[in-house]
Amino acid sequence: MTAMLETAAPVDSLSREILDLKKRLNAVILAHNYQIREIQDVADFVGDSLGLAQQAAKTQADVIVFCGVHFMAETAKILNPGKVVILPDADAGCSLEESCPAAKLKALQDTNPNFYTIAYINCSAEVKAISDVICTSGNAAKIVRHAPKDRDLLFVPDENLGSWVIEQTGRPMTLWKGNCYVHVEWTHAVITRIRREHPDAPLIAHPECTRAVRLLADEVCSTEKMVTWCRNHPSPAIIVATEAGMLHRLEKECPGKTFIPAPTENCRCNECRFMKMNTLEKLRDCMQNLSPRLELPQHILDRGRAPIERMLQISALPEDNAG
Ligand code: 13P
Ligand code: SF4
Repeated sequence: MTAMLETAAPVDSLSREILDLKKRLNAVILAHNYQIREIQDVADFVGDSLGLAQQAAKTQADVIVFCGVHFMAETAKILNPGKVVILPDADAGCSLEESCPAAKLKALQDTNPNFYTIAYINCSAEVKAISDVICTSGNAAKIVRHAPKDRDLLFVPDENLGSWVIEQTGRPMTLWKGNCYVHVEWTHAVITRIRREHPDAPLIAHPECTRAVRLLADEVCSTEKMVTWCRNHPSPAIIVATEAGMLHRLEKECPGKTFIPAPTENCRCNECRFMKMNTLEKLRDCMQNLSPRLELPQHILDRGRAPIERMLQISALPEDNAG
């Protein structure tokens, strides 16, 4: 009991400090669904990559505090070149981003002048700057449906999301061979086992999972769509195959339901080590120091903007307006 009180107090006072700093700086705190619960609970907006980009595009705040990974904060900076964008830990990367250096992508693009490059938002600002359009897991199929019909589609860097989009749209694409090191941990065998243990519980999976896992899922979707799907589904228990932070968001949004994390083999592999680099202390410190601060070269800011804005425009179109 005493131990519980001892751990609760610092979190409360840190959270209060963060909320005070937020007012003082006229800041907005944007947090991804995979952030630790304490960060989600002080954020102004918690969501998927698409929702966070949309919030970043329309914020009136002077300072954007981005609690996610580096490429997400970069996206916010490209959309707000004149604003201060800070993040709790500048080393919070992403295995997908790492898999796709801009120079290697440029070399591939040079092999086919008819390539139309669709870049999953999980990539560097340099990659965004040489892509035609950006997508997220929440709008990837829609973005592909709107791609010019006379171009050869090149989809980077997630081959699993890419293959899922090919299944959705029937549009062939050349796929970059990258993957999310967390989502490929789930195997057909382990998911079959958990489904057998909970025969009445449906399974939701992120499209970064392999095809073998996606085939076992009742729904494959972005983290934000998971919230809506679970809210509307009558089942009292749902198995979740995505990063562990999602469970907090789901439990908050769907009170009374039980969420069963899909297990990985003998490790806590369902926690993204990059997302989990952010702590409440680092969040407070970055707001106190206005550092680490996101800075990008002018040419990247200039060239990265159009592909992101194209994504936001297509995303806002009605569903059946596939061009
Ligand atoms: P969402 O856009 O679905 O939240 O996914 C982001 C991500 O990094 C998944 O691993
Ligand atoms: Fe990147 Fe995977 Fe972490 Fe998402 S969960 S940020 S795709 S490494």
